[in-house]
Amino acid sequence: MGVKITDSVTWVGKVDWELRRFHGHELSTHRGSTYNSYLVRDEKTVLIDTAWTPYAQEYVDSLAEEIDLNDIDFVVANHSEVDHSGALAELMKRIPDKPVYCSANGAKMLKAQMHRDWNFKIVKTGDKLDLGSRQLIFIEAPMLHWPDSMFCYLTGDAILFSNDAFGQHYATEVLFNDLADRDELYQEAIKYYANILTPFSKLVPKKINEFLGLNLPLRFICPSHGVIWRDNPLQIVEQYARWADDYQENQVTIAYETMWNSTRRMAEAIAAGLRNFDPTMKIKLFSLSASDKNDVVTEVFKSKGLLVGSSTINRTVLSAVAGFLEEIKGLGFKNKKAAAFGSYGWSGESVNIVTTRLKEAGFQVVNDGLKSYWNPDRDMIAKCREFGETFLK
Ligand code: FEO
Repeated sequence: MGVKITDSVTWVGKVDWELRRFHGHELSTHRGSTYNSYLVRDEKTVLIDTAWTPYAQEYVDSLAEEIDLNDIDFVVANHSEVDHSGALAELMKRIPDKPVYCSANGAKMLKAQMHRDWNFKIVKTGDKLDLGSRQLIFIEAPMLHWPDSMFCYLTGDAILFSNDAFGQHYATEVLFNDLADRDELYQEAIKYYANILTPFSKLVPKKINEFLGLNLPLRFICPSHGVIWRDNPLQIVEQYARWADDYQENQVTIAYETMWNSTRRMAEAIAAGLRNFDPTMKIKLFSLSASDKNDVVTEVFKSKGLLVGSSTINRTVLSAVAGFLEEIKGLGFKNKKAAAFGSYGWSGESVNIVTTRLKEAGFQVVNDGLKSYWNPDRDMIAKCREFGETFLK
């Protein structure tokens, strides 16, 4: 059933309460997600985005209860990723000749994913679609977060349909930010930015300034996931500007994996050293195999510094550490300090490998790391504390 946003705009999306993994198994979604789709009714009717493939039938059936599908004049596909365009294939079976508005990359990518050739209408920034008393203005947003990504803005109602930008993987019964649990909403918004948008941070302020430069009134930001920003919609824009600017809190994250607790004991002693040097510093410790990877990434995003520990096994690092280092390399964090530590019994390569990988990932590695031969004794525990203090200095 649709939910009215304004007299002319209705949310016709799908709340996915069950989703716990997204992008295959790459991204955790502890609070589910929503696939937001919007119907704009003026003299002409336009549908903006659809829903994820497994819900295609349910989505189209539900949409058909909201409107006679033949009354839809235009479809807008802001982004070809299947969480928004998966149901397009099912919809277009019912209305095969209706025009589909998308970016040039959008048409190319939809064809490559769906193997269909619909009535594509390619639009670029500034192009307008007349709906009658309102217009839809298109704004390309390449690499936020795919090459095809696009926003559109509805005049009159002053709504920015921002697709993935400003979204959250957050299933709720309430559709608006002022009705949502503020802490949960913030947590999901920052996790979304940290894990999905960090690689594109340089583009974020440019796109924000481009949109603000248009001097368009703004009543709502309607993203394609999570709640709609109705109360002070610019708050999430301002937050994005802060997050895009090499965001840091007064925090250090320690991420480690251990075989027989030696590296864990090092991690805890390093944390004690950090705390001793600066009791105001937020310190977060994570065993990488016991923790959710994306939650750890979110904490790294918030941190000034990262300490990564691994025992040595088979002349390399533990597999959870290897995966984590690959993940943070891809995200391309900027302006963060780092160092490595770990225990060993034979050859002891792990610390050097972690140090190299951290440098490759763009971290400013501040020393050569700290190794413990087998279990840390009292002297080594003291060295770990000192290592933590020196790291903060
Ligand atoms: Fe990039 Fe929500 O899809």
